[in-house]
Amino acid sequence: MCDYKEKYEEYERLIRDGLSKKRYTHSMNVAKQCARLAERHGGDVEKAYLAGLLHDIKKEETPQAMKSQAALSDMDVSSEELYIPALWHAPAGAYHIRTSLGITDPDILNAVRYHTAGRADMSLLEKIVYLGDMTSEDRSYKDVEKFRRSCMEDLDESMYDALRYSIQETLGKHSLIAPCTAKAYNFYTLIHNERKKSK
Ligand SMILES: [Fe+2]
Ligand SMILES: [Fe+2]
Repeated sequence: MCDYKEKYEEYERLIRDGLSKKRYTHSMNVAKQCARLAERHGGDVEKAYLAGLLHDIKKEETPQAMKSQAALSDMDVSSEELYIPALWHAPAGAYHIRTSLGITDPDILNAVRYHTAGRADMSLLEKIVYLGDMTSEDRSYKDVEKFRRSCMEDLDESMYDALRYSIQETLGKHSLIAPCTAKAYNFYTLIHNERKKSK
């Protein structure tokens, strides 16, 4: 456990005052869903709530600001990621919470940094924030109920389904696939296929 609980109020105020009502509601819902997932899978509930709360903190910046913070973040941001505007807010957010809020826990920083792109062999917290973001109460896409069930049951299997879904969406938009996303897909597909073989 960590002692972030006393900071919740301050960070919630920051999110409420700095983001639109819609993004604030989303952030609160993701924080709650991350806490639920951490409880269900034996993670650190306080860290999960905090990372969920802050995951989109840079989402409403100008594209130029997001891109330059992503590039500055020193968090292994690939040239492909710097070509995909939808991904910039994640490393920009990790950079911001480290430099402006003084959060140095690498697991929290990575959970924010990889919450959109994913990566291979994600930590428990990284998977919780990735899936918490996809299954928060405000989400209403077609398969959301399926993902809400699967993330409560098995995080690796849920990551496999989520990455397949996300890559299919990306292909539909004729956009690039970030190398870390492709590696994440291969990683969780191998786990899925190996499990299937051993059944
Ligand atoms: Fe996001
Ligand atoms: Fe989000």
